[in-house]
Amino acid sequence: MALPFNIFSIGKEPKSYLGVDIGTLSIKIVELSSENGRPKLQNYAILSNYNLIENKTPKVFGGEASMMLRRMLKESGIVAKEINMSAPIFSSFLTIMELPPMSESEVASAIQFEAKKYIPVPLDSVLIDWSLIGTSAEGPSTTFGAGLPAGQAGKILILLIAIPKDLVNEYQFIARESDLKLNNLELETTSATRALIGNDPVPAVLMDMGSRDTTISVVDGGYLRISHSIEASGEDLTRALANSLNISWRRAEELKKEQGLKVMDNNNQINDVLAPLLDTIVNAAKNIIDLYFSKTNKKVEKLIIYGGAAKMPGFSQYLGKGLGIDALIGNPFSKIIYDEKLNPIMEEIGHEFTIATGLALKAIQ
Ligand SMILES: Nc1ncnc2c1ncn2[C@@H]1O[C@H](COP(=O)(O)OP(=O)(O)OP(=O)(O)O)[C@@H](O)[C@H]1O
Ligand SMILES: [Mg+2]
Repeated sequence: MALPFNIFSIGKEPKSYLGVDIGTLSIKIVELSSENGRPKLQNYAILSNYNLIENKTPKVFGGEASMMLRRMLKESGIVAKEINMSAPIFSSFLTIMELPPMSESEVASAIQFEAKKYIPVPLDSVLIDWSLIGTSAEGPSTTFGAGLPAGQAGKILILLIAIPKDLVNEYQFIARESDLKLNNLELETTSATRALIGNDPVPAVLMDMGSRDTTISVVDGGYLRISHSIEASGEDLTRALANSLNISWRRAEELKKEQGLKVMDNNNQINDVLAPLLDTIVNAAKNIIDLYFSKTNKKVEKLIIYGGAAKMPGFSQYLGKGLGIDALIGNPFSKIIYDEKLNPIMEEIGHEFTIATGLALKAIQ
């Protein structure tokens, strides 16, 4: 038997995969490999507030994103070529579809047939993704449809997600231009669920507070059930601070990160400006939790926050108080092997890699 060309390199470099999260103002990359079946962190990279000019909010996308991505890959020495990417909820469509009892093999064709009743745009303009999340049952139980009237029990519940093909093409363009192979595109919250919830069956709210918006979702039994994005974001807080104190965007951003909600305690004028934004988030979360309870009789028991603004001083306490649930900062690396020297960094910015980690995990699980 002929020996392989370079016997010494065999097994040296485990195959690794990338999760790439392209946000409104940032790009985050996580590279994972598998070590005896456990995910291992190979590399990571983050680019924040790219090209942010005062009073202008540019969108990192298209050609710009691929250019930045190429630079990040080169500078961080990332070697993987296969990537997964995610799309935000505001650009996509998510609903729960109900099908009459049928065999699992019949489900896929039934979904294709029924999807047009649920999706408000032509089906050939979207990429459809779905997952089986359970069956509806009578009375309180562990499934989504608990409490449905008799006769509706036993229906098959499907989580249906539609991502516009135009958007899919944009992501494909970014990957191609960066010399990467895009294997999967999924909803951001699906990636976050994989990274933060896994198989934990407890109903939880996931909250992603980013630059552009805040996405609030309910996950139950490891599946995404509801997801909404609202226009109250980290960026809105910065602009509100800058305007009310008549300071530059940059100074306001610093103040927000250093003092967070303490600026409200120190200054009533700011309280009037920031509190309504924060309360919009608390109320939206309350509404989603109540909606979920009204449909399922199940109480949300956990609140996990992630995205850049999750670490704003005082924010988790404000949410916890408003919602009556402790708000935990998401740690997507909790089940991942990594060099313990990275602990301080993970402690500080680990939550920002939630989506990128969930995407990379998809490839190796
Ligand atoms: N320590 C901190 N305290 C307060 N805010 C912070 C902190 N770190 C980051 N942020 C804020 O988080 C926001 C960026 O979050 P993130 O990187 O998750 O956004 P994004 O993914 O680019 O945007 P989006 O997900 O909305 O498209 C910015 O508004 C930034 O000011
Ligand atoms: Mg984001």
